[in-house]
Amino acid sequence: MTVLNAKLKSANNICTYVLLLSKCVSTECSTVHTASSSCPATKPSMLNVHLVPHTHDDVGWLKTVDQYYHGDRNNIQHAGVQYILDSVIDQLQKDPARRFIYVETAFFYRWWRQQSQNTRRIVTQLVNEGRLEFINGGWCMSDEATTHYSAVIDQMTLGLRFLNDTFGECGRPRVAWHIDPFGHAREHASIFAQMGYDGFFFGRLDYQDKARRMKTKEMEMLWRASESLTPPLADLFTGVLPNGYNPPEGFCWDQSCNDAPIRDDPDLEDYNVDEIVQRFLNAAFYKTNHIIMTMGSDFQYENANLWYKNMDKLIKYVNALQAKGSKVNVLYSTPSCYLQELNLANLTWPLKTDDFFPYADDAHDFWTGYFTSRPALKLYERLSNSRLQTCNQLEVLGGPKSTSGPFGEGDSDTMKRAMGVAQHHDAVSGTEKQHVAYDYARRLATGWAHCEVLVRNSLAVLSGSESPRVFCENLNISVCPLTESSQKVLYADFSKLIHTIKVHSLLNYNLSFFFNSLSVLYECVQSSGQDFSINNKSVLMYAFKFLKVTFDDTTGLLSSLTNLETNQTIRLTQNFYWYNASSGNNKESRQPSGAYIFRPNSSDPFVINKTAEIQIVTVSSTVQEVTQWFSPWVSQVVRLYEGHRELELEWTVGPVPIADGLGKEVITRLDTDIESSDYFYTDSNGREVLERRKDYRPTWDLKQTEPIAGNYYPINSRAYIKDDKHQLTVVTDRSQGVSSIYNGSLEIMLHRRLLYDDFRGVGEPLSEPGEFFDGLVARGRLLLTLTPPNMAADVHRPLAQGMVLQPLLSFQDGTPLANTKLEVCRGSFSGLQDALPPAVHLLTLSQWDKDSVLIRLEHQYQAKESKTHSQPITVNLQKLFSTLEVLGASEMSLGANQWKEDMNRLQWNTAKASKPLPLSAKDPSPWENRQPTDHCTSQSECSIGVSKPGTDS
Ligand SMILES: *[C@@H]1O[C@H](CO)[C@@H](O)[C@H](O)[C@H]1NC(C)=O
Ligand SMILES: *[C@@H]1O[C@H](CO)[C@@H](O)[C@H](O)[C@H]1NC(C)=O
Ligand SMILES: *[C@@H]1O[C@H](CO)[C@@H](O)[C@H](O)[C@H]1NC(C)=O
Ligand SMILES: *[C@@H]1O[C@H](CO)[C@@H](O)[C@H](O)[C@H]1NC(C)=O
Ligand SMILES: *[C@@H]1O[C@H](CO)[C@@H](O)[C@H](O)[C@H]1NC(C)=O
Ligand SMILES: [Zn+2]
Repeated sequence: MTVLNAKLKSANNICTYVLLLSKCVSTECSTVHTASSSCPATKPSMLNVHLVPHTHDDVGWLKTVDQYYHGDRNNIQHAGVQYILDSVIDQLQKDPARRFIYVETAFFYRWWRQQSQNTRRIVTQLVNEGRLEFINGGWCMSDEATTHYSAVIDQMTLGLRFLNDTFGECGRPRVAWHIDPFGHAREHASIFAQMGYDGFFFGRLDYQDKARRMKTKEMEMLWRASESLTPPLADLFTGVLPNGYNPPEGFCWDQSCNDAPIRDDPDLEDYNVDEIVQRFLNAAFYKTNHIIMTMGSDFQYENANLWYKNMDKLIKYVNALQAKGSKVNVLYSTPSCYLQELNLANLTWPLKTDDFFPYADDAHDFWTGYFTSRPALKLYERLSNSRLQTCNQLEVLGGPKSTSGPFGEGDSDTMKRAMGVAQHHDAVSGTEKQHVAYDYARRLATGWAHCEVLVRNSLAVLSGSESPRVFCENLNISVCPLTESSQKVLYADFSKLIHTIKVHSLLNYNLSFFFNSLSVLYECVQSSGQDFSINNKSVLMYAFKFLKVTFDDTTGLLSSLTNLETNQTIRLTQNFYWYNASSGNNKESRQPSGAYIFRPNSSDPFVINKTAEIQIVTVSSTVQEVTQWFSPWVSQVVRLYEGHRELELEWTVGPVPIADGLGKEVITRLDTDIESSDYFYTDSNGREVLERRKDYRPTWDLKQTEPIAGNYYPINSRAYIKDDKHQLTVVTDRSQGVSSIYNGSLEIMLHRRLLYDDFRGVGEPLSEPGEFFDGLVARGRLLLTLTPPNMAADVHRPLAQGMVLQPLLSFQDGTPLANTKLEVCRGSFSGLQDALPPAVHLLTLSQWDKDSVLIRLEHQYQAKESKTHSQPITVNLQKLFSTLEVLGASEMSLGANQWKEDMNRLQWNTAKASKPLPLSAKDPSPWENRQPTDHCTSQSECSIGVSKPGTDS
């Protein structure tokens, strides 16, 4: 038997494998298919206009995903996806030249399941001939500002899996297509590149950036999307579409549009074909003699005949003019056919290394409010991701009994689909109508209900106990029925575990925690006998081994933070403020703040209270906490835990009062003496970190028109400020908006409640009702660490990972055990043979099919950010799991829809010489000399090696 090793050659790499268990299924790699042989011919000496018929089908927005699919509630918005697909398939059959692209697999999957064998045969043929092409192909078109990479990879995998299972290689999307998301994250581009996409097109970018790019012909570029991965691994050809995602003006031939049809009778007075040709010739801001025209828009093609009939004529008459010397050639095409032409042109493309945030479509219209909109939904989505990972892992570890066992039938698919839908750019982004937000939350709850059965079954298998188990919906004890009876609270800190947690849980019950590190721990928890001791003395200093915090005893605010290991102290004042949201009544612009847009009517926020009333609550020797009361609707608990390096700020904001007629955007601001000047740092989808600078964009000379909103950026997991000596890092529990307006300061937007719609289509002011009060109460946590900059990643990487993957708690009814030693009823199980190296994170462990599992091993450090951890790492795949016998492994693309050895992306030339960043260390192992596995291998930064047992360390 040979040894299978996975090697993560560089920092920040994700390696995806299918592991074969038990019976060896065939692992023949599928043959490599040649790219789009079905693309229409173009004319090299002419301007080729690629018409791309498409529909943009939001997976929920003004209506729920079900209402959109069925065409229900057309009084809200006329849209019915099932009719769109019916109609398009019908029209495609009428002429082999016609093309259509389809994007959202959440909808296609539903439609496909309702089709007859005959229709399926026809559709399969259309796909095989390239007439119907899948583009993007994830479950949805994800939001880029408020999503976490883990959930994005999962939702892409779900959609791509369906397409591969259904259509094989011909169903594999080659182009990523984010025509509507409101700004673009670099990590998304990196993910797309690693998934094997050849290119990426989008519609929205800052209006100043767009104007410049049109002038300099830089609408198309090469995006180098990672500072860690060696080019071209994370390089993605990226194009900005000329008309957003709409048709050019005057060319909208959907039933929902009012544009005149092609009037093709030259004897008629309004014959307009010549004018159309001229319009195409005017679009001269692209480098090649090819341009792409998106022919379609939101939920269009319900009556596809209108579109195709007019496009047929457009093509016929415009091309007929070629006989009279016209140099315009119009054709039906697809994004991948257009991309192929650009590639053949073999030009040199400009290089892009930053991202496309924030997005503004006018001087006072910054789409930076949605970074924070609907904070509770954003948290729930994040918690659901954690639960889904747990569910996936327990499905593997518990075996077949987990889906069908003592507690009934459970599954992870419902949760996967609910999470897939929740990644949509009007879901977790918070830009949907209120009734649709409820629908997303309900889907996640239903998904969890299915997972919960699976988890019960699996834990019964793993623990050998079938007695009933209760899950707390959250750690707030008031909603956990089994624990309601007791008044005492125990703080337990199981810091020995790989992921340490802090639990507020109750005595006398058998607790078990399932960690995403695959450990289950059973513990009979007993009361420590300590009650809350409340004293109001003004002892305002708190110290454990790692941190010391002081409060100002006149204001009750935080005043300093000390790292006791490094002996560093910073001044740290924290308070809560609100920006007065613009109502649109303003001489510069009528733009109000809304679900998308952040527009304060003054750069100076109002302080909620200059002082806080504080209450000291010393709980135990393991936790110290102070509660600060700022107003009836803002409070905070400040906590320090024994053995932890972070300060926890648990904020509660709401219901935000609006009786004064003022919309409010609530922030907390940390003011320090760190000399950060104009710089601050934000993560991209929870992964790599980007540098930000106030009133500055790396790619153009910014004319700043909104001093606050124009400096906001999204964070998904962390932000920091630093100088030579100090770095203050804030780890968050959900996606939020963040900025640094003053030297040494960092502000995070926590909650917003607004009175006006912001004219971007949602048609409602963002004013979330609460369950118990008038207005939503949001609560969340910020974790603060103070370190020297070169040690920061070692602390914030694991901290952020622990925040993303929360342990799942469950309670079993237990007999009170008066004086029993804890050891007596302690048990544990670990799915891993050994703890993974600190740099490696098991991003995915999920049942793939009957005899195989999908795993993703992630190197979670960026190149150069950690002296100890930013190093190549080798993991033995066979010794990874304690209960799984691994017989073989095959490497796949990140999206798991292509074998790695079949990946063959288009190559592009770029202006700047690609200088790969030096990795922190040379590869220590003599790996290169070994023979690769008989399965798939590649020249990528992941590899699988096979060696004889005993020869491997
Ligand atoms: C593409 O252009 C490069 C120079 O930029 C040249 O070396 C190469 O031969 C060209 N390739 C093709 C296929 O024309
Ligand atoms: C649980 O939530 C309720 C309502 O927000 C609150 O009153 C109560 O104090 C919370 N309990 C704990 C232990 O946090
Ligand atoms: C930290 O600083 C204090 C006073 O400045 C000093 O007494 C102490 O020895 C220092 N500790 C460390 C670990 O450097
Ligand atoms: C501000 O806090 C003080 C206590 O520090 C409290 O008495 C006062 O009512 C608070 N003001 C508001 C507006 O809540
Ligand atoms: C894609 O699906 C086909 C069957 O349609 C299967 O043979 C192939 O292994 C799948 N590819 C991957 C990478 O899973
Ligand atoms: Zn959309």
